[in-house]
Amino acid sequence: MINLLNVQVSPRRDKSLSRNLSETFISHLNDFDSDLEIVHRDLSKVPPQFVDLNWIASAFTDSSERSHEQRKILHKSDKYIDEIRWAEIIVIGTPMFNYGMPAALKAWIDQIARISETFSFDLNRGDFPIEPILKNKKLVVLTSSGEFGFDEGEIRETQNHLIPHLRTCSHYLGVDKKKDLYHIGIEFQEFKDDRHQKSIKNAHQKAQRLAEEISFCDKNLEKVS
Ligand SMILES: Cc1cc2nc3c(=O)[nH]c(=O)nc-3n(C[C@H](O)[C@H](O)[C@H](O)COP(=O)(O)O)c2cc1C
Repeated sequence: MINLLNVQVSPRRDKSLSRNLSETFISHLNDFDSDLEIVHRDLSKVPPQFVDLNWIASAFTDSSERSHEQRKILHKSDKYIDEIRWAEIIVIGTPMFNYGMPAALKAWIDQIARISETFSFDLNRGDFPIEPILKNKKLVVLTSSGEFGFDEGEIRETQNHLIPHLRTCSHYLGVDKKKDLYHIGIEFQEFKDDRHQKSIKNAHQKAQRLAEEISFCDKNLEKVS
């Protein structure tokens, strides 16, 4: 049994390339692991609230001392965090918007980065007081962009603020960014040429292979434990 949280961001619904790529990944994982359980979180249908002053005050009030009103303010954040806790694999299907993540996805990250829930803070740790609380999750990020060349060593590497940002925040999701974060991206959407078609094909093939790889790892882990 694998618990999978499917976070989708694109407002383009059935025209969305990142949603389509996510479907390929999830349906292949389902072929290999028929007891996949999925929770869907659509951030474009119902965007998370932005963090405001009352939210910050509520999050930084000890849970035993929170008022009824403060608990209500954190209710949605609690729900998002419960979904992450439950999940073993988190899929994020997202477009690149203005070289970074769409605002709805950033708002979700802001809602789930919570003291005493997803991270602890202790100045005794010196210059790195933050430590993640959640562990052992895999993050699969499936993206689409209009331009191209955002990977390491490519022509727009320094303009990519989507994957580096998600990588930096991935510890809040319980993800070891060095070994448990996977990214597959479609590029060239705005060029609508052969390179785009090739990129779609390659990305879907990679998504299928990744599903196989992850399900294989999962089965081996089950055997060991
Ligand atoms: C508001 C907006 C901002 C965008 N910004 C960028 C960008 O900075 N860089 C880029 O390569 N593509 C950009 N694009 C193109 C999208 O990333 C591209 O259309 C992608 O396929 C959208 O994902 P989707 O097909 O899953 O909806 C932008 C598109 C929109 C609508």
